[in-house]
Amino acid sequence: MRKTTTMIAFAIALILISCKNNNTLPSQSISIEKTANKESAWKHLEAIQQIADKNQNHRSVGSPGGVATADYIVEQLQLLELKPEKIPFEAQNAKKNTIKGQNIIVEIPGKSSEIVMFGAHYDSVEMGPGINDNATGVAILLEMALAVKKTNIQPDKTIRIAFWDAEEFGVLGSAAYIKNLSEPEKRKISSYINVDMVGTKEPETLVLDGDESSIPPMKENFKKAGVSEKEIEMMLGGIPKPHQGSAELEKIVEQYLKSKKVTYKDDLMTSLSTDTAPFYQLSPTTGIVMIHTIEEADGVLLFAPCYHQECDNINNVDKKSFNIALGLVTHMVDKLAFK
Ligand code: PHE
Ligand code: ZN
Ligand code: ZN
Repeated sequence: MRKTTTMIAFAIALILISCKNNNTLPSQSISIEKTANKESAWKHLEAIQQIADKNQNHRSVGSPGGVATADYIVEQLQLLELKPEKIPFEAQNAKKNTIKGQNIIVEIPGKSSEIVMFGAHYDSVEMGPGINDNATGVAILLEMALAVKKTNIQPDKTIRIAFWDAEEFGVLGSAAYIKNLSEPEKRKISSYINVDMVGTKEPETLVLDGDESSIPPMKENFKKAGVSEKEIEMMLGGIPKPHQGSAELEKIVEQYLKSKKVTYKDDLMTSLSTDTAPFYQLSPTTGIVMIHTIEEADGVLLFAPCYHQECDNINNVDKKSFNIALGLVTHMVDKLAFK
């Protein structure tokens, strides 16, 4: 009897000590990067693969597979006691067809209303299940949200996470979101970080070029290839300037990739081909896309094996690349939201 009482007292003391530690932990010692779990991130890929399996092997905007993916994302966030919102939109694609989609937005409120925003598109093309492109980005953001909630410590800045629809129809979801945002709301976004196609094997990692350092070498290459000055100006003149603050974000990304010995390339040309486009001139923006270009037998150039094809399934996702991207995203949370 006495022994039990002592044990209970000891247990209560332990609980009290651990609670106290939890509350007084300085936010500098929190690491979302260390808290995030690769296996639990991978489980989301398996779940999204199952959704594709049950829905004609694709999850394109408005399709049963697309809607089921949205429901899955919302459910997962609700399990974390978060309050995701589905925001419907209508937009026209390049062929002037009206596309109806829904973005999903969720917030983890911080001590300040300044927003660090992360985004990934959740729709696939109609040709395939889109597990590398872009269930990988979705899975990483879901695991990031879980890791932040798990620490049970309020971030200094508000973390907003977007799951975009209809990227594959011309970056429609993220563009509609920005179009409907008021000017003061836009100004609250202090950084935007995008994740697209991050499970490519042996990738060339494209980092959004925030300081335009990729332009001079690009000009050089064109010159060497015999393109005239005038033509070069025409080609490069059309590229919009990145937001001033993007250079700082690019540095954080590149330092991280260097520390993991991942080779990367600064890239400006493709900045407009994913959900970084609407943010690009609006707020400090960065993002990575992992490509591994291959030429098919018929001469068609693919950004990655199985890119936009039926075989972009879970077997097409490289664990090493996926884990590096998970590390990078959670590292960005540590650097930007907890400080
Ligand atoms: N936005 C492309 C997609 O989702 C991915 C991509 C972006 C490929 C940039 C290359 C360069 O299909
Ligand atoms: Zn795509
Ligand atoms: Zn994509």
